[in-house]
Amino acid sequence: MRRILPLLLFAILYSTIIFSQSHDYYPPSKLPDRIMLNLTSDPTRSMAVTWRTSIAIDSGVVQFTEADPSPDLEERATTLSAVTSLYKSDASEANYHSCIMEDLKPGKLYAYRVGYNHFWSEWAHFRTPDRGKTNMSFIYFGDAQNDLKSLWSRAIRGAFQEAPKADFLLHAGDLVNRRNRDHEWGEWYYAGGWIYSMIPSIATPGNHEYGKNDEGNYVLSEHWKPTFTLPENGPKGFGETAYYIDYQDVRIISFDAPAFYRSAADSIAQVQWLDSLLAETDARWKIVTTHYPIYSTKFGRDNTELRTAIQPILQRYEVDIVLTGHDHAYGRGTNIPIGVRDKNSLDGPIYVVSVSGPKMYDLGFDAWMQRGASNTQLFQILNITDEVLKFEAYTVDNQLYDAFEIHKDKKGGKKFFDQTPRARERLDLPERYLDNLTEEELFDYKTRLQRYKDKVRY
Ligand SMILES: [Fe+2]
Repeated sequence: MRRILPLLLFAILYSTIIFSQSHDYYPPSKLPDRIMLNLTSDPTRSMAVTWRTSIAIDSGVVQFTEADPSPDLEERATTLSAVTSLYKSDASEANYHSCIMEDLKPGKLYAYRVGYNHFWSEWAHFRTPDRGKTNMSFIYFGDAQNDLKSLWSRAIRGAFQEAPKADFLLHAGDLVNRRNRDHEWGEWYYAGGWIYSMIPSIATPGNHEYGKNDEGNYVLSEHWKPTFTLPENGPKGFGETAYYIDYQDVRIISFDAPAFYRSAADSIAQVQWLDSLLAETDARWKIVTTHYPIYSTKFGRDNTELRTAIQPILQRYEVDIVLTGHDHAYGRGTNIPIGVRDKNSLDGPIYVVSVSGPKMYDLGFDAWMQRGASNTQLFQILNITDEVLKFEAYTVDNQLYDAFEIHKDKKGGKKFFDQTPRARERLDLPERYLDNLTEEELFDYKTRLQRYKDKVRY
């Protein structure tokens, strides 16, 4: 018995793990779920919607109409058929349905629902942007990635409480940890729920959305294309990963950072595309989102090739802000050289690294960074008008943690205004991190931290 007992315990533990990993906790049903709105390349006129059902439902339609207070939506709604495709994940077989609602009017509130036959979603609302006007806001998330149900949920829900009328959500990569695990995507949808069906999303892929397939090729998550209906206006082979959206007078570009490192040909193609996109636009504001930071927050990390390739382009075309993730900490640098006299003048974009999920790295305290945080989950809200880009970073308990404004004059001249709140900078690492450092590493860390604290900042 003594010999058998450990074996028995091992067998029970092993089967529990296998069962918990293989059990489908987020099964598809006849009712639509995972309803996702995505911006198209012309958001004033169209909106994309994607949803999932079980394979028992092999077609899908969307019904949409201008919203008003009456409940009589169905009678006057336009009905469009969706494109349906079967996707077999590691957990289930499901049908994904996608449709682009077209011929919308700018600046209007729409109601829509998705489904088929007797199986419908609720009616949900979204708003199209106004033409010729810049007055918008959006929420930006760094890596969600881990414990999406348990801990990331408070980031997206806190953000929704803070900015319920945001025009879109921007996910800066690493939405999940294991790209093809349906369970993680299930948690990602559980956390955001119906928020995704009312506020459209923009997503740029991170390294956790890529990986090697059985043939050894570096490929995108199998979930990406069934899950999203993003623009396909990027370079050839970068559909729904590198693309741009003109939202009112703001050009937003998703630069596929993992694909930049995929091959020399891919990096050249994407860099040339970025250059031409920025050269051709006369948009008042230019925003780039890409997963890898241009400047890292983590000691020893540095995406030199990426920075060398794209920073001159970002500077030349006066990109206003670059929104990134990957380093699992918060860092914001204004690119104001230390010691310059006109401390409000901007030379190049503002670079931000942020994290919304619970995976955390320590800070490197490189000189570029002017506000940082470690061991802190955050989300960011950007409000943009013709003259002002206002940036606010909130911790997930909805406390303002960082803020600044860029003011732009008629000729495009920019001034920077630091509005860092009084909240103490969260730089202390928990014991569990410090315990893992050798004496030498700890000394080095404390020296860098002290140098950062002593730095003259604006
Ligand atoms: Fe990453």
